[in-house]
Amino acid sequence: MPVSDYAMIEAWKEVLTLSRLQAGQTVTILTGATTHPQTLSTALIAAQSLGAIVNRLDLPPVNGEKALSRDTLAYLGTTPLTGNRAAIAALKASDLVLDLMTLLFSPEQHDILAGGTKILLAVEPPEILARMVPTAADRERVKAASARIAAAKTMHVTSPGGTDVRFRLGEFPAISEYGYVDEPGRWDHWPSGFSLTWPDEGSAEGVIVIDRGDILLPQKCYVNEPIRLTVQGGYATRIEGGIDAALLSEYMASFNDPEGYAISHIGWGLQPRASWTTLSLYDREATIGMDARAFEGNFLFSLGPNNEAGGSRTTACHIDIPLRRCTVRLDGDTMVKDGKVLYPPQQTGNPS
Ligand SMILES: [Fe+2]
Repeated sequence: MPVSDYAMIEAWKEVLTLSRLQAGQTVTILTGATTHPQTLSTALIAAQSLGAIVNRLDLPPVNGEKALSRDTLAYLGTTPLTGNRAAIAALKASDLVLDLMTLLFSPEQHDILAGGTKILLAVEPPEILARMVPTAADRERVKAASARIAAAKTMHVTSPGGTDVRFRLGEFPAISEYGYVDEPGRWDHWPSGFSLTWPDEGSAEGVIVIDRGDILLPQKCYVNEPIRLTVQGGYATRIEGGIDAALLSEYMASFNDPEGYAISHIGWGLQPRASWTTLSLYDREATIGMDARAFEGNFLFSLGPNNEAGGSRTTACHIDIPLRRCTVRLDGDTMVKDGKVLYPPQQTGNPS
């Protein structure tokens, strides 16, 4: 269902206010070939209405000839900023970058953030953005979960389908994604609403069963036959099952990179306004799947890089996999039971 320009302007104003945008600050809107025109036009109006100095920086896409998918998260490595000193300088000189292009997993992004510039990624279509305007309550809940992750030494995940996998924690930070950027140097993604970390290098051990109804990203499909991943020494060493396993296995093999099989980020979804069902309602071209990543109670794990966390692994291959009905324990304490979040509990009166 389309959303009005008025609703999008109000949504942007709410997000920019939560992000503590001050009159006179400089906002640069980073755009590319896939930027949604309504998201751009309403961001320009909202930022100007709050008194910001607003720029637009449009960059041509890269890697289109290498990737097997048009999804901007499907092929990592170089970005339109790689070697682009003029563009980097413009972004570093900004107080806030609204990333409508997808500048993720890049050293240039780290460089810009290190100078205190905030970056907010927003590439889902307007109606998804409008449905999941972040709130201060989202932030509190996500940060509470991240604090538990930061204090934990182990994560253990099980499911009725046969998942039984253990991770040691502590080497990498706990990350809170709640949808706005209220601190200097902060990166976030609107929409989101989940907590995550990365397992200690080489520590992931066990079995992960991607069951019927679980989701593969960037494939943006529901799994119809269980896929069994054997996890040893931090890597998925076997991918077994039917046609869905063959599709995943052959797609990953196309990168010809053993680092693509490493277990990357792990965490759970905390966004009650995200829905498991939306992926069946959108064209693959229309979404990057943030509903799937954020819906309440999913266990989200990833295969691929850990350089976002300060690790050394870079790989072009990046798969995100939200699982339903899992039980997630930290040091033996149950955070999610059978896909229902026990900690932090959902706050009554949470705006929706
Ligand atoms: Fe990911």
